[in-house]
Formats: sequence, C-alpha cells, structure tokens
Amino acid sequence: MQVHLNTIHKQFGSLVANDEISIQFEPGRIYGLLGENGAGKSTLMKILSGYQQPDRGEIALNGVVQHFATPRQALAAGVGMLYQEPLDVPVFTVLENFLLGRADDGQRPQQSAKALAQLAGRYGFQVDPHEHTRELSMGERQQLELLRLLAGGAEVLILDEPTTGISAEQKDLLFASMRTLAREEGKTLILVSHKLDEVQELCDYAYVLRKGRLVGGKQLPCPNQELVDLMFDELAPRPARQTAPGDVLLDLQHVSARTPRLELEPVSLHVQAGQVLGLAGLEGSGQELLLRACAGLLPLSGGSLRLAGEPQPDWDYPRARQHGVAYLAAGRLEEGLIAGLTLTEHMALVSNAHGLLVDWLQNRQLAAQHISTYQVVGQPESYIENLSGGNQQRFLFAMLPQNLKLILMEHPTRGLDIRSTDWIWEQLDRRRADGTAIIFLSADLDEIAARSDQIAVFSGGRLLRSVPAAETTADELGHLIGGAL
Ligand SMILES: Nc1ncnc2c1ncn2[C@@H]1O[C@H](COP(=O)(O)OP(=O)(O)OP(=O)(O)O)[C@@H](O)[C@H]1O
Ligand SMILES: [Mg+2]
Repeated sequence: MQVHLNTIHKQFGSLVANDEISIQFEPGRIYGLLGENGAGKSTLMKILSGYQQPDRGEIALNGVVQHFATPRQALAAGVGMLYQEPLDVPVFTVLENFLLGRADDGQRPQQSAKALAQLAGRYGFQVDPHEHTRELSMGERQQLELLRLLAGGAEVLILDEPTTGISAEQKDLLFASMRTLAREEGKTLILVSHKLDEVQELCDYAYVLRKGRLVGGKQLPCPNQELVDLMFDELAPRPARQTAPGDVLLDLQHVSARTPRLELEPVSLHVQAGQVLGLAGLEGSGQELLLRACAGLLPLSGGSLRLAGEPQPDWDYPRARQHGVAYLAAGRLEEGLIAGLTLTEHMALVSNAHGLLVDWLQNRQLAAQHISTYQVVGQPESYIENLSGGNQQRFLFAMLPQNLKLILMEHPTRGLDIRSTDWIWEQLDRRRADGTAIIFLSADLDEIAARSDQIAVFSGGRLLRSVPAAETTADELGHLIGGAL
C-alpha cells in the first residue's frame, strides 16, 4: 500500500512538532525514520495511524485521501502502529488482547486461539494464548501486538523504537519478520529508531526529521556519518575518561535474591567509589534482581551487603536512600515518572520540603531551572507523558539528588539519541569524578563495553564472570551471554 503524507502540520501550543511534512512510502519496502529526541517522529507516525489528528495536511493511501479519527479507523483502512510504549492490557490474557478492538466475527475462542497460533507460526513467534499478558516479556508483548495488527488487516506497519527493551534474539526474530512482511507480503514498513546500525541493516531508505521538518532522505546503506550530519547540527567529540577508583563502596558477599520467576544464585562483587560496574546479560538473567537488591527494593535471600565498610543487615529502600543510593528504573512512565503530573508537580514530589504547604512558585522555578540545565524540551506546565521519550529520560536525570554515593540504573540511555546519550554519560562522569559509584544494566552491549570499568556477565540467574572492561569487547560479551563460552 502506498502512503502519501501531504504537508502535515501539527502544533502543541506554540511548539511545532510537525512542520508541513510531505513524505512518501512505497509498498514492499522498509523505511527508517530518524531524528534526534523531540524531532517529531512519533507525532508524525501517530497522525498516520489515527492516534492524533493533524492541524492541517492530508493522508492518502493508494491515492485515496483518508481521515482517521481513531487508530481503529486507521487499522480498518490498513495502517497499524506499534507504539513506543506498549498499549496492551496487562490483566488480559494473550488471546483477549489479540481480540481487543476487533469486530466480533462470530469465531469461538478456540478458533481464535488457533488463528492466533497459525499467524504466530508464520513469523516464528511463540505465543501461548492463555498466558496473562503481564507475564510476557517486552519482546513477547510486542509480537502479540504485531499479530493483532496483522490480523486486523494492516498493510502499512509502523514500529516506533521497537528494539528498546527486547533481547538480541527477539530483535533478530522481529527483523526477520519485518523482512518477510515487506519482501514476501508486499507490506509497507516504517521503523522509527535511534540505532543507526539497525536502520542500515534493515532498511532500504531513511528519512530524517529535524526540529519538526523533513530535512532529507538517503538510500541505504550509506556511511553513518551522512545520516548523523542530517540529524544534528554538530556533535561534540566524546571526551576521554579518566578514572582513579577510590575505596570499596559497595561490597556484596554471596548475595542471593529471588522473585517468583527467577532465583539469583549467590553473587560476590564489589564496586569502588568513582567506578562504573556494567551488568550484562539477556533480559531476565538475574542482573535486574541484583540491581534491585542493591537498591533495597528486593530483600536479600542470603549473603551480606556492606556500604563503605559498614555491614547493612537491614538493607531496604528507605535506608538505601538515606545512605545516598539512588535508583533509576527502566520503565520511565511505570516506575520513575508519573503520568498525569506536570514537571512542576514532579519537582514538588521529590523536593525535601516537609509540611502541608507546597511552594508551587519555588517548584516551578526549580522545574524551569532543570529544564534549562538539562536541555529538556518542555515547559514546567507540560504533562510528563507529553514529553518525547528522550526528554522524559533527561528530566528523570534532572531529578536525581546531588552528592550521591551510588547510582543504580536500568537501561540509562534507552530510547535516547546519540547526542543525549553522550550528554547523560558526561553528567555521570562528572558525578563519578566526585566519587559517586555507578552500577547499571543495559541491553546495549556497546554501551556496556564503552562505559564500564568492570563488567559482570549474567546468565540464567548466575554470575558467569566479572572482567575488567579493558580486557573484553562488545562482541565477546555477546558470545558470552549468548551461551557460546
Ligand atoms: N501531546 C503533546 N502535548 C504537548 N507536546 C507534545 C505532545 N506530544 C509531543 N509533544 C512535543 O512535540 C515534540 C515532538 O515529540 P515527538 O514525541 O514526536 O518526538 P520524537 O521524535 O518521537 O522524540 P523521541 O526520539 O524522544 O521519541 C516534542 O517536543 C514533544 O515534547
Ligand atoms: Mg518518539
């Protein structure tokens, strides 16, 4: 199906998110849509998929002008979108989610389950119709949503940053299915992504947005630098890192922890002041448990933890905070930030002021100050969910207190563009120089290899090994966590 967007314009107040964008997508091809955080990619795709309406401009499918008031109308016309944040309903089963929003076609549940299994099989996806969606990994939820769109008749498929938060294997499977959909089934595919290597690997052509405007397009593959030049004004070179780690800050001896799904076998590790410890492993290999145990969010089921030499037998989250340990969760809008609250209201939540009266003026000023220091695109009055993904992450960093001893982070730069990623690590390096230790986990092995001093590799709930970053590479890590020892 051919898609033609004609002078699409969308403003939020005075902010122009899409500035007269005209762009065309052909069937049987895979397109990359690139641009820095806040460039307007998600907005344009939400308009194409009926989730938002343009102020002006036209959408035409195979030459026929369309008006979508809802995503359901868009899907009925053949356009489906996987959103940046999953929209499924966690308490529903896989089958219930699959049937969500579809006209009752008179099929009995058993037939629907069979249809789901058949469709899943075609793309190598494994879904159990009766499992609860909340038990699924991010990648599995995404597969389910993709199947729902296909069953709903999608000819145009939009995927907004689909590889953030899924395992390497799930990514390979997703890309293989995207190739099948375009090459064999003639569908039109659009991939929104910050990962240039992924776009080069998968896409035939890339469009680049910058500050709401379409600034160019490139036949792929092409040198990465050409895309970067289109996306950014200029990138500062990455400063070299210098570390002289201090005393042992956090010392774990035979620490174990468990959730209903996974048990972490005893781990002994330490991190020194000013040091960065990277935790590598496929999603659900135990590194998340360790990080949460360090944050006091998950009780230790065995072993001991010392902070700056002091034994901490009753380690919990309030105690961790008291001792200058901060934790940044991966699910930005699920754990770190609260949808429905403005930036000013978030400041009020984290401010140290006690008492009944909130000083709104002061919190507004604080929010404004963070917006300017952390270069967040937004206003103190903006609702957090209306910030672009990258800007949400910047604001989350802005809210971290100063003078921390230890920062624990899950996927610190997930969804961030190259510039914001470098910027975040620069902020962290500054804190490191003051003796703050950092432990982080990431699905991005390049990030782990490049930013860590020491790397701990996890698999199946076990610490496989701990190596100095200088003695390994992202490639080697990939083999290690994949089980090819
Ligand atoms: N509902 C909304 N209300 C107000 N502003 C919005 C809304 N949705 C988006 N914006 C703003 O429009 C701009 C474009 O946002 P958009 O989400 O399209 O960017 P993006 O290119 O997808 O960025 P990212 O890479 O960070 O996901 C941003 O400045 C964002 O804050
Ligand atoms: Mg986006």
